[in-house]
Amino acid sequence: GRDLAAVVAGGTIDVPDFPKPGIVFKDLMPLFADGRAFREVVDGIVAHYGPDSFDVVAGVEARGFVVAAAIAYAAGVGVVPVRKAGKLPRQALSASYELEYGEATLEVHEDAFIAGQRVLVVDDVLATGGTAGAALELVERGGGAVVGFTVLMELAFLKGRERLHPRTVHALLTV
Ligand code: PRP
Ligand code: MG
Repeated sequence: GRDLAAVVAGGTIDVPDFPKPGIVFKDLMPLFADGRAFREVVDGIVAHYGPDSFDVVAGVEARGFVVAAAIAYAAGVGVVPVRKAGKLPRQALSASYELEYGEATLEVHEDAFIAGQRVLVVDDVLATGGTAGAALELVERGGGAVVGFTVLMELAFLKGRERLHPRTVHALLTV
């Protein structure tokens, strides 16, 4: 198949000064909208982990949902949404992380995972690693066994991979 880093790069538009001046936003919507490219990257992630290597996928709201649900479907497993605070209707675990200004909170239902269940955690982009760190913490506190954390794109200059160490990160494209 095609080189998946190139497929991700080809489906991304850099948007300068969004959401604020000095930030270059990585817009992956063109990748999601391209059926061939989307299937290639999803199948590539499933192939990277191999058959029967995870029992469920945890996807991070909101952009992570797009990728997580597709990976889960392709692998024949279910998907657990890790949501932004205040969205889940039942008892939930919470984990907060730092933003540039203030903090954000992710939540997951306390009964979302079966003890020891092998969980692949998925998001679209790894930047500072705050989001990923909180999501991984929630899966672990919920009793899941984290198989890995995977993203389409990693922004290496923000050092998320180092923040998540010793957990490992799989990224199709590192920029
Ligand atoms: C973006 C992106 C990742 C996160 C990465 O999500 O989708 O989830 O930021 O940043 P970090 O590594 O510095 O935490 P965002 O919070 O903008 O929201 P969205 O997915 O709901 O659009
Ligand atoms: Mg996100």
